[in-house]
Amino acid sequence: MKIFLVGNWKLNPETLAKAKNLFDGIEKNFKKIPEAFKKEEIVLCPPFLYLSEIKNLILKSRLKVHLGAQNCFFEEKGAFTGEISPKMLKSLGVKYVILGHSERRKIFGETDEVINKKVLAVLEEKLIPILCVGETKKEAGSWKREDGRMKEIERQLKNALKGISNSSFQLQNSLVVAYEPVWAIGTKNPCDPESAKKVLVFLRKFLKEIPILYGGSVNSKNAKDYIKVGFNGLLVGGASLDAKEFVKIAREIVL
Ligand code: PGA
Repeated sequence: MKIFLVGNWKLNPETLAKAKNLFDGIEKNFKKIPEAFKKEEIVLCPPFLYLSEIKNLILKSRLKVHLGAQNCFFEEKGAFTGEISPKMLKSLGVKYVILGHSERRKIFGETDEVINKKVLAVLEEKLIPILCVGETKKEAGSWKREDGRMKEIERQLKNALKGISNSSFQLQNSLVVAYEPVWAIGTKNPCDPESAKKVLVFLRKFLKEIPILYGGSVNSKNAKDYIKVGFNGLLVGGASLDAKEFVKIAREIVL
């Protein structure tokens, strides 16, 4: 299975000029790495407003990267002020959409039901959801008994995928799942790879051939450890805003 490296820029950088600079930096640094990397899947997820511009830069460059959005709405059109539809994203050349990120769940109050509607809408448009699941420290309950953590993850996964038969998404190769322990996101406190592996094994029972990524305080020093325990790639936040570090992560996990 190919390796995924997904950069989630979140609400960054502050201006379009800085976003273009970040892309230029990534392109420049990728030029230094061998062809071998080209078969892997690199995905950049800038804010909505920068998608077109980054797409143009991708087209002009010889870099093989794909475009992802960080969110979308589930309706196709209509009176939904401020929203963006999967179809709109598709028309800009977007391939992936991050859904169910813990920041959306927590700060914007997205429920399992809303996330499920978004997953269905994104699949309908033949875009690929990168579905995030993960527990808070509180939800995890006792770390000795893993059941609190697994129950939370199972609930998020099953509710997000309600109405989708296993065979349909597996055949289409149309879903990516990211395990992102909430307490590890943006904290410089990554989940221990062996502990993350327990969730990977648990998720694998349900997800069969679906790529499963790890996310949460990934950097170039720890990136390889998650691939070694069996993850199919990484979802990177903070470190994806530093072009050199992002490409270093790429090099670490592929070569
Ligand atoms: P982080 O974010 O790498 O900054 O921890 C990961 C994410 O939120 O996807």
